[in-house]
Amino acid sequence: MKGIILAGGTATRLFPLTATTSKQLLPVYDRQMVFYPLNTLVKGGIKDILMIVAPDHSGQFLNLLGSLLKNHGVSIMFEVQKVPRGLADAFIVGETFIDDDNVTMILGDNIFEDDFGAQIKDFKSGGHIFAKKVSDPERSGVVKFDENGRVLQIVEKPKEWISDYAIPGLYIYDQRVCGAARTVKPSERGEIEITSLHNYYLELGELTVSKCEGEWLDAGTFDSLLEASTIVKQKELRKNFHPIINQAIAEFNEELKNICKKRLL
Ligand code: DAU
Repeated sequence: MKGIILAGGTATRLFPLTATTSKQLLPVYDRQMVFYPLNTLVKGGIKDILMIVAPDHSGQFLNLLGSLLKNHGVSIMFEVQKVPRGLADAFIVGETFIDDDNVTMILGDNIFEDDFGAQIKDFKSGGHIFAKKVSDPERSGVVKFDENGRVLQIVEKPKEWISDYAIPGLYIYDQRVCGAARTVKPSERGEIEITSLHNYYLELGELTVSKCEGEWLDAGTFDSLLEASTIVKQKELRKNFHPIINQAIAEFNEELKNICKKRLL
C-alpha cells in the first residue's frame, strides 16, 4: 500500500494567510497542519508516501519534510501539481509513484481522530471510502445509503439534501484508479472530482464504505482552522501521534536550535 498526501491547491478561502504559505503548512495548535494527515498514513502502516504540492510552496514542504522520516523507515517523495485541476488529478500526477500498487490518499487539510490501520491492512481491491454524519453535508461529497446500508448514490456538494453522510478526505483505491482518473471530465466548477472516482467503483459494484466514528476536521476556512486547533487541544489529539513522528519533530527542532545558536556565536 502506498500513500499520497494531496497538499496543493490555492486555498483562496484562507487569503491572505495563504498568500505567503501553503494552507497545509499553517499551524493547527502546536504543529503544521500537514503533520496530522502524515500521522494518519504512518499510523495506518504506510511507509512509502508521496506529497503532492503546489509550485509556489514546494521548497517549504521540502525543507520541513524532505529528510524528516528518512531515519525512521518512512520515505517521503514529492511531486508538483502545476495546476490545481481537481482531487482526481492526484492519481495522474502520482501514477508513476503508484505503479502497480494499491494507494491510500488523504487530503492535506483533513484531520482525523480515528485510526484506519485495519481498513488499510484489510484492503484487497476496488475502492474504499468513509462516511461521517455531519450537520452541513452540502460542504462535502455526500453518500446516500438504502435501509440495508448499501450505497445508492454519491454526489459532490449536493444542492438539494440527499443524506447527512459526508465523505471525508481519505480514500483507498486499487491501481485502476490511475486509468479511471484519466477518463474523468471536469465538473461545473471546472475540476476533475474525486466523487467521479467513487462512482467509477460504485458502478463496478466494487465500492465499500465504512463509518468514521471519531472527530473529522476539514481545516479549509478561518472558522474551521480555529476550531481544529481548539479541538486538537481539548481532545488532546496530539497524544494520537505515532512516536516516530514526535521523535522526528523533536530532532528537527533540536537541529534548528543548534543552527540558530551557531549563527548567534
Ligand atoms: O474534505 C473532504 C471533501 O474534500 C470531500 O468531501 C469532497 O468530496 C472533495 O471534493 C473535497 O472537497 P473540498 O471542496 O473541501 O476540496 P478542496 O478544494 O478544499 O481541496 C481539498 C484539498 O486538496 C486541499 O488541501 C487542497 C488540495 N487540492 C485541491 C485541488 C482542487 C490540491 O492539492 N489540488 C487540487 O487540484
